[in-house]
Amino acid sequence: MKSNRYPRATAILEEMRDSIEEGIIPIGIFNDQEIYQMEMEQIFGTKWIFLGHESEIPEPGDYVLRYIGEDPFIVVRDESGGINVLLDACCHRGVRVCKAEQGNASHFRCPYHGWIYKNNGSLIGMPAQRKAYNGLNKDEWGLVKVRWEVFHGFIFGCLSPDTPPLETYLADQKYYLDMLFGLHEGGTEVLGEPQRWVVNANWKLAAENFSGDDYHLIFLHHSASDIGATPYSMFENMKGYHIHAGNGHCVSISLERGRDGSENELPYWNFPKEIYEAFDLDSLDEKQKEIVRDSKEMLGNIYPNSSFLVMSVTFDQHSDPVPFFSIRQWRPLGPDKIEIWNWMFMYKDTPESFKQDSYRAGMTNFSMSGIFEMDDTLTWETATWTAGNHFSKKNLKLNYQMGMNGMGSAEIDPDWPGPGTAYYPRYGEGNQRYLYTSYLKDMLGEKEEGEEENTNGKDYSIHR
Ligand code: FES
Ligand SMILES: [Fe+2]
Repeated sequence: MKSNRYPRATAILEEMRDSIEEGIIPIGIFNDQEIYQMEMEQIFGTKWIFLGHESEIPEPGDYVLRYIGEDPFIVVRDESGGINVLLDACCHRGVRVCKAEQGNASHFRCPYHGWIYKNNGSLIGMPAQRKAYNGLNKDEWGLVKVRWEVFHGFIFGCLSPDTPPLETYLADQKYYLDMLFGLHEGGTEVLGEPQRWVVNANWKLAAENFSGDDYHLIFLHHSASDIGATPYSMFENMKGYHIHAGNGHCVSISLERGRDGSENELPYWNFPKEIYEAFDLDSLDEKQKEIVRDSKEMLGNIYPNSSFLVMSVTFDQHSDPVPFFSIRQWRPLGPDKIEIWNWMFMYKDTPESFKQDSYRAGMTNFSMSGIFEMDDTLTWETATWTAGNHFSKKNLKLNYQMGMNGMGSAEIDPDWPGPGTAYYPRYGEGNQRYLYTSYLKDMLGEKEEGEEENTNGKDYSIHR
C-alpha cells in the first residue's frame, strides 16, 4: 500500500477514518505537507480533473495552459481539429515549452536547445539535426500526452490509465450535470477568460463548501441578502436537498417545491421566461424536468476539486434576478494555498445582452472581488492557518455532525425523484462526511472490490 511511505500522515488519516463515523475530523488534514504529498499521488494522480471548455480553443492551433495537481498541461487543438493534452515539458531536459497562458501556435519550441514539437505533440526537428541526432527516432520523443474526455463541451484530463471513463467516473453526478448543461441545443460557452487568483487556503475547504455547506449562507452571507443581492432570504433558501451523487461527488439544490408543495415563483433558476421557454426539455426525463422547473439554485462538487454553481442575484431592488453559471477549479499550490480558477458560462444561443448581464451578475458575486467570494475565502484562510499551528494541529477536532442521527432536522427523503441519496432540508453536513469518506478510501487505498472499475476494457495507457 502506497500510504506506508507516509507513516505520520497515514496515522492521522486512520484516526479520521474512525472518527468520521462520529462526525469528527482532525483539523490537521487541512494543512500538512505529508498529507499533501499523498494527495498528489492518490487523488490528483488518479481522478478526472476539469481543464477547460472546448469554446476556449475553437480553432486549430488554439491552446490554453492548465494544471492537474502540480503538473502543467497544454490543452491544444491541432491542425486536424483534434484536442491534445500535452505535458508542458521538453523530453530533452524537462524545460517548459509553452510560454503563455493562452494563444495560437502551430509549434512549440523549447527555449533551451531548440527542439520543435508540432501542436499535436510530435517531435519534428531540432538544430543541427543530422550532426547531433542522426539516429534518433523522433516518433518516440514527442511531448507526453495524457487522457482527456469531453462532457457537454467541458474538457477533463486524467493522469491514470486505470481510472474508468469520465462518464462512469461521474456516476450520478452526470444526471445532475445533464440537467444544467444539456438544456440548450447549442450548448454552452465560456464568457471571457477564466479568472484566477491565489488564496491561502487548503483545497479541501473549498471543495467541501461547494459540496453543500449551505448552513453558512444564513450567517456569513446574510449581509449579501440584507442589501438585496439575493432574490430570496437565506433562510428560505435552506429548503432543498443534499445529494450524494457517487464516487465522492455531491450536489446541493435549493428547491422551492419541497415537502410543503408550494409553487416556485421563480422557476428554472430564475432564467427569464423567453430563455427558459427555449430550453430543450425533451432531452430530460420526467424527473429531471420536475427538478429543473423547481430549482432556484444548484451547486456541487465534481470530486475532487472541480465545482459548479448556478444561482441568481439582483442588481437592485427594482430589477429582476439574473442567473449565472460558474465552474471552478481549486488548484492546489501546497497544503496551505490554492489558485482559484473561475470560468463564467452561459448557453451559447442566448442574447448577447443577457450574456453580459449574466457575466456581471457572476463577477460581482463570485470572483476575486465578488461579495460572496470574499466572505468565503477569508474563513477558509483562517481555518487553514489554524490547521498549521502546533497546538491546534494535534488537539483540535472539528464537528461535522449536523444532520447525524437526529441532530437537527435533515433526513433522507425516500421520495426524491433523482438518483443518489438525498437529504432534506439543507441543514446537514452529510455531503461533507460523504466527500471525506471517499477521500479516505482513496488516500488509504481502501477501495471496495469492483469499485471504479474500468468497465469497457479499453487500454488507457499514457502514450506519446
Ligand atoms: S531542454 Fe528542450 S531542447 Fe534541450
Ligand atoms: Fe459561500
